[in-house]
Amino acid sequence: MIKQHPADSDQVIRFSKDKIHVPVQPVIPYIEGDGCGPDLWQAARQVVDAAVALAYQGGRTFIWKEVYAGQKAFDLTGSWLPEETIQTFRKYHVGLKGPLNTPVGEGIRSLNVALRKELDLFTCLRPVKYYPGAPSPLREPEQVDIVLFRENTEDVYAGMEFDCGSPEAGKLLTFLNITFPEIHAKIRFPDSSALGIKPISRDGSERIVRAAIDWALHNHRKTVTIIHKGNIMKFTEGGFMKWGYALAEKEFGGSVYTMRQWNRTALKSGEETANQELEKAKHTGKLIIKDMIVDAAFERAITHPLDMDVLVTTNLNGDYLSDALAALVGGLGIAPGANINFNTGDAIFEAVHGTAPGLAGKNAANPCSLILSAVLMLRYLGWNEAADLIENGLQKTLASRNVTADFFERMENATLQSTSDFANQIIQRM
Ligand code: NAI
Repeated sequence: MIKQHPADSDQVIRFSKDKIHVPVQPVIPYIEGDGCGPDLWQAARQVVDAAVALAYQGGRTFIWKEVYAGQKAFDLTGSWLPEETIQTFRKYHVGLKGPLNTPVGEGIRSLNVALRKELDLFTCLRPVKYYPGAPSPLREPEQVDIVLFRENTEDVYAGMEFDCGSPEAGKLLTFLNITFPEIHAKIRFPDSSALGIKPISRDGSERIVRAAIDWALHNHRKTVTIIHKGNIMKFTEGGFMKWGYALAEKEFGGSVYTMRQWNRTALKSGEETANQELEKAKHTGKLIIKDMIVDAAFERAITHPLDMDVLVTTNLNGDYLSDALAALVGGLGIAPGANINFNTGDAIFEAVHGTAPGLAGKNAANPCSLILSAVLMLRYLGWNEAADLIENGLQKTLASRNVTADFFERMENATLQSTSDFANQIIQRM
């Protein structure tokens, strides 16, 4: 354990009774990241520091503290994710992180998943908002203002897997054959199967749905849609939906209007009846809780983005959905994210995308994703004045059609900017 230096306590963010206490000079641990990470980090830090300086005229500043993970950590310490990194995030509670490489099929499990698990950051928060000027495949992209709550700790995504032909897979197959022969019989090719386990719990479902509803109420949103695949996976995905509705009714009864039958009405009797019912519900002025099958949600987000307000879903669905939603507003280069434990307050803010190896060291990646993740962090800390300055500068820069390569190739009459020049343009326009 890291010993707490007495002076340190003035720089540590604290939480009590749903309240966050932020000192004027909080220490913020950061991971630069692999691949394009260092370029993005430089850009984001410059923009955030400039905004904080402008907003508070020296009254507030961040003390950035580098911690290591990924290749840099391995080169320096021999560990991909040193214990000290985890302890530092634990101590300071709120941090910023660049993308980290995860070699496919090798021994190292995902560092991102490991960090989220270690700190029990059960919410993956992914806002998807359109900024005018960004290239979008939609005719009316300004309709997109979606906030996705993805469960971060369960599901097949949690990494409980056994390789095909491994002794563990063999043991599990034997166990299934003896104890649950009807399940074993459903495995089409048992001898050549890798196996994964998909735990979805009531506790895990409740805490993410609670976080989504809480957030939606605080931010005056209209609907929370529980996204699932419960028509096929009755007990895991179906449980997520069932427990979500029950929690909404039990804990938020007076403030929410649950529409358990809405999705089924929409499927059975066509759109009209379901939409009429939804309109009626809107007149109650309450937060509407409904659900949607995940495949329909992909279609719906493209054809009726206004129907997608706050979404809450399981881990794997959320992983796919968040990238697809990002495509509606310009792509991964502009997709921010946060991993939060709303019970402890611990939070790590990070871009949705990966390390973009093709852009590594080229000063060419789009820094919007990490910059907007930092904006989320500023809002989480209540430093809204600095967050507004950044969003304002970013909006003006995009509207002026000064963009990085990922946007440039999909826009007409745009001016190509490097990562660092784009960041400077934001600062100039704050
Ligand atoms: P990726 O997200 O790195 O790249 C996908 C595509 O998006 C590429 O064409 C890339 O050039 C582009 N892209 C991503 N970020 C961009 C940016 N800021 N500006 C412009 N274009 C951008 O996904 P990929 O290639 O599948 O994964 C590369 C590595 O990243 C893998 O090791 C993967 O495991 C890791 N990864 C890490 C994540 C994290 O740290 N949170 C999340 C996703 C992947």
